[in-house]
Formats: sequence, structure tokens, C-alpha cells
Amino acid sequence: MSHHSWTDLGPADDFPSDKHTCLNTEGADGTRGRALVVLHVDGAWYALENRCPHAGRPLGDGERAGMTLTCPYHGYAYHIKTGKNIDFPDEETPVRTFPIRVEDGRVQVQITNDEADTP
Ligand code: FES
Repeated sequence: MSHHSWTDLGPADDFPSDKHTCLNTEGADGTRGRALVVLHVDGAWYALENRCPHAGRPLGDGERAGMTLTCPYHGYAYHIKTGKNIDFPDEETPVRTFPIRVEDGRVQVQITNDEADTP
């Protein structure tokens, strides 16, 4: 059975609305640390892996417009909720998304250590 635990990312106040934040989680209990992009948009929260599926660059370096985050390196665009490629949702690899919530004013993300990362 996989272990689902929530990783604390700090106070919600540290994540300004309508901005996105890049950070790394601590690896704990045998889980790897993760590079994440945390987005706080119109009162909702999203967490993506900060790794563009195209060539592995940090997607969080890009700009968001609406629900789309565009990688600055070669222009691939992703839906921040589904992680799907905007232009080729069925052909291109989606960016990984993670469950995220705010509990008692703290942002928490659920990192599942399931399949290995593709190199
Ligand atoms: S690495 Fe993101 S578009 Fe190429």
C-alpha cells in the first residue's frame, strides 16, 4: 500500500495570490525531494513538478496566463490544473501534478513516491 502523507510547504501567506513560487521539498522517510511550482490563482492552489516534460528544464521559470503556464525554453504550454500540454494534450507528455491543500493556514502538498521519474 502506498503511503500518502502531506508535506508542509509553509504558511499560505508566503504564497502571494496570482503568483507562482518555485521551491524544493525535503526528502523524508525515504522519499525524494521534489522541485515544485506552487501556484495560487484566484483563491485556488495548484502544484506542478518544476520540470518541463519536453527537455527537463524548470517550467516554473515561465510565465502564467490564466490557467496556462508556458515554459520559456521552447514554448511548450501546460494547463496548471491538469498538467496537460495545451496544444497537443493527447500527444505530448503532461507535466506531473500533485494534490495540494491549505490546512490551518499552511500549504501542504501530497508527494506520492510511485513510479520512478523518467530521466
Ligand atoms: S524544456 Fe520546456 S519547452 Fe523545452
